[in-house]
Amino acid sequence: MGKTLLDMSISLDGYIAGPNHEDGGLHHWYFTASNNPADLNQKVIEELISSAGALVMGRRTYNMGDQYDGFINNSYKIPHFVLTNQRPQRVAKGDTQFVFVTDGVHHALQQAKTAAGEKDVIIGGGASTAQQFLTSGLVDEIQLHLVPILLGQGITLFDYPEFNPLQLQRVRVIEGENVTHMTFRMAKRRIS
Ligand SMILES: NC(=O)c1ccc[n+]([C@@H]2O[C@H](COP(=O)([O-])OP(=O)(O)OC[C@H]3O[C@@H](n4cnc5c(N)ncnc54)[C@H](OP(=O)(O)O)[C@@H]3O)[C@@H](O)[C@H]2O)c1
Repeated sequence: MGKTLLDMSISLDGYIAGPNHEDGGLHHWYFTASNNPADLNQKVIEELISSAGALVMGRRTYNMGDQYDGFINNSYKIPHFVLTNQRPQRVAKGDTQFVFVTDGVHHALQQAKTAAGEKDVIIGGGASTAQQFLTSGLVDEIQLHLVPILLGQGITLFDYPEFNPLQLQRVRVIEGENVTHMTFRMAKRRIS
């Protein structure tokens, strides 16, 4: 069985988006990665795409992708599970398969794991979704793409008292062009 990986881009001061949900340049590294074999950003992206068997995201992240037609030409040809309280009337454009899950993170993960088989389940954000998975102890690893930008304000990922705290172990660091890719494994027990 694959792992459950939380994968997100984050600014140096801990934001995953600006105050009005603007991306603030956090995804620039992703969209400018080249086919040059020496481009480590591209290697990180290819690894993620090839290891992913299902993706989980929150409704706000889905809505934003839909709003900007971000699911047309989606590189992730895998089922996408969207946490929501209410299924949308119409589904985002493109050929991505969406499953809308209204009964919480455990059920979303259960369905995603079944769909993923031996591959990984990627938790793709946003903050609320990531925080719920983390506090429920459902994440095996976190991959953060640390972008050297100070946004100053916005949506934080880790400023969340319920973490209480969580212990992590750094397992990999890759220096990309204008981004550092860091992987952490969650420790099995909470520290007090
Ligand atoms: N930097 C990155 O890598 C990255 C990645 C992804 C997203 N983002 C950014 O993150 C921001 C969105 O994050 P967010 O924290 O505001 O929202 P989010 O986690 O994407 O979505 C939250 C919404 O999902 C639904 N939801 C979440 N948990 C649920 C549950 N247990 N049961 C039922 N519904 C549930 C609710 O929507 P409803 O009540 O409306 O159904 C909730 O308001 C956006 O700005 C996005 O661009 C950044």
